[in-house]
Amino acid sequence: MNLEKLVRENILKLKPYSSARSKYQSGILLDANENSIGSVLLDYEELQLNRYPDPFQLSIRKSLGNYLSVDIKKIFFGVGSDEIIDLLIRIFCNPGIDNVIIPQPTYGMYEVQSDINNISVRKVLLTNDFQIDTESIFAQIDDSTKMIFLCSPNNPTGNILDREDIVKLAGNFEGIIVIDEAYIDFAADKSSIDIVENFPNLILLRTFSKAWGLAGIRAGYCIANEFIIDILFKVKAPYSINKLTMDAINTAIQKAQVKDDFVNSIIAEREKLVMRLNQFEYVQVFNSDANFILFKCSNADEVFTKLTARNIIIRNRSTQPMLAECLRVSVGTEKENELFIEALEEIL
Ligand SMILES: Cc1ncc(COP(=O)(O)O)c(C=O)c1O
Repeated sequence: MNLEKLVRENILKLKPYSSARSKYQSGILLDANENSIGSVLLDYEELQLNRYPDPFQLSIRKSLGNYLSVDIKKIFFGVGSDEIIDLLIRIFCNPGIDNVIIPQPTYGMYEVQSDINNISVRKVLLTNDFQIDTESIFAQIDDSTKMIFLCSPNNPTGNILDREDIVKLAGNFEGIIVIDEAYIDFAADKSSIDIVENFPNLILLRTFSKAWGLAGIRAGYCIANEFIIDILFKVKAPYSINKLTMDAINTAIQKAQVKDDFVNSIIAEREKLVMRLNQFEYVQVFNSDANFILFKCSNADEVFTKLTARNIIIRNRSTQPMLAECLRVSVGTEKENELFIEALEEIL
């Protein structure tokens, strides 16, 4: 596969900005108009917040590379995975010309970022069991189709996508396939991380916002072919990942066991919630490989409004294709889940 041919011509030719810290990170630094005396945040003296952060993200790429046994040349960090979605669209899709394919229903940002970049979106429904309809996708592909977004486990349906379908698409599509694994830690089935190596057009997207419990630091990453990673570095803002975030990521990776414990607790709570929801006569619960549950009831709007009135905030997904009368609830703490179920008992 010729990845170069897929990249927008102006991006391929782009001469990236050469930032001060991309050249020198130590010495008598009088090159970036920083405050040489120090920062007002004395508590963070060690981090030298008066200096711009490492544009190459080396320390966090090394930590993550070690943790996942992935070559750091294949890792790129973004300000949340949302930033990476935007960067990828800008790298591969010519505004007003190219199109992307987005199976529905799924995470809304793929479409929003495509719209922002003036890229037309071809929507293809998932199958009845929320799997990829590969035939319908192949039927939608034309010469201007640059990317396909797959979300596994899918938000908001909660299920993991079949591996054979992902492989079939990756092997037969002459464009980029993004697999968003934001919720993969909660899934029993295998990640697609081991097949990135086999398919140069496959980009795996992950985040620190879910299992790691770090939505507040804004950190996502992707694992992809080196050529794609190099272009992401060319296009990103020079100092996108800040030092506080890098420090938090490095510390978090050292404490990965805590993340694993969170995951086990959340899965145990999820199973309890599924069981409780299944006890309601008019509720249909969908299988979840994630930290949320999709369920269908007879009057979703009313249930949603009544829960909100009780200060229990879940997500109404009932206007999305295939999701009439469907609501999505995140797995909360044991206490929160109990309050949610009690409220539901009263309402239903
Ligand atoms: C499927 C999916 N991808 C990506 C994101 C965004 O992640 P981040 O916080 O890393 O931007 C979300 C957030 O809800 C999501 O559901």
